[in-house]
Amino acid sequence: MLKPILAANWKMHHGPTEARAFFRDFLAHTPRVTGRTVVFFPPAITLRAVQEALQDRPEFLTGVQHVHDQASGAFTGEISAGMARDAGARMALVGHSERRTLFGETDEATGRKCEMLLRAGVIPMLCVGERLEEREQGMTEQVVLRQLEAGLAPLDAAQAATVLIAYEPVWAIGTGRTATPEDATTVHGAIRRWLRERVGEKAATMAILYGGSVNRGNAKLLLAAPDVDGLLVGGASLDPSNWTAIVNA
Ligand code: 13P
Repeated sequence: MLKPILAANWKMHHGPTEARAFFRDFLAHTPRVTGRTVVFFPPAITLRAVQEALQDRPEFLTGVQHVHDQASGAFTGEISAGMARDAGARMALVGHSERRTLFGETDEATGRKCEMLLRAGVIPMLCVGERLEEREQGMTEQVVLRQLEAGLAPLDAAQAATVLIAYEPVWAIGTGRTATPEDATTVHGAIRRWLRERVGEKAATMAILYGGSVNRGNAKLLLAAPDVDGLLVGGASLDPSNWTAIVNA
């Protein structure tokens, strides 16, 4: 997968009709993108509309924001990794801070989800990040590495090396308060050192994305920071003009 990776997490925004309108505008202003990977994580119910809008633009990938950790069963409202793959998802977010804090997703569940996704042929994007009080207590590395360890726990080194990592400090998500490029590099560097212990040489080529109040004004600087291999973008990915600017940053 080509780096940098620019990922749009639409969260609970843009149903099929809004997605079609988004792509009419976005595609008209975005000539063929080369030398980077661009992936959209729309709501699962919008995935089909996004894929249809992108059918002549195979350079864009799609994924889902969430899967359950079981293959099937009586879990009303949930979708499985296998279903996501069947529906054309190439990637899936795991352990986003909103899933952890609002929906009780545990460290252990993130590990099971990564395992289910890889078994189904979907690449997990494992999200990690500390809360403000944890940062203020100097616990950033400890929290991030704990989440990383749990998320990759069921995987052998070769499998773990295929997982994408997104560092999203919780205090920077949707707050307008972005980590500085130096903050991002510090934490990404700690993640990469930990990965080297866990998966060996391949850690050097694994992608570590930054997320949290990325916008068209700061994307280029963040992307230029050492150890930042891509961006995971929420709010600014919802607007075609902002997203075009970030994709080309
Ligand atoms: P914002 O870009 O809106 O801060 O959201 C970041 C995020 O949570 C992406 O997954």
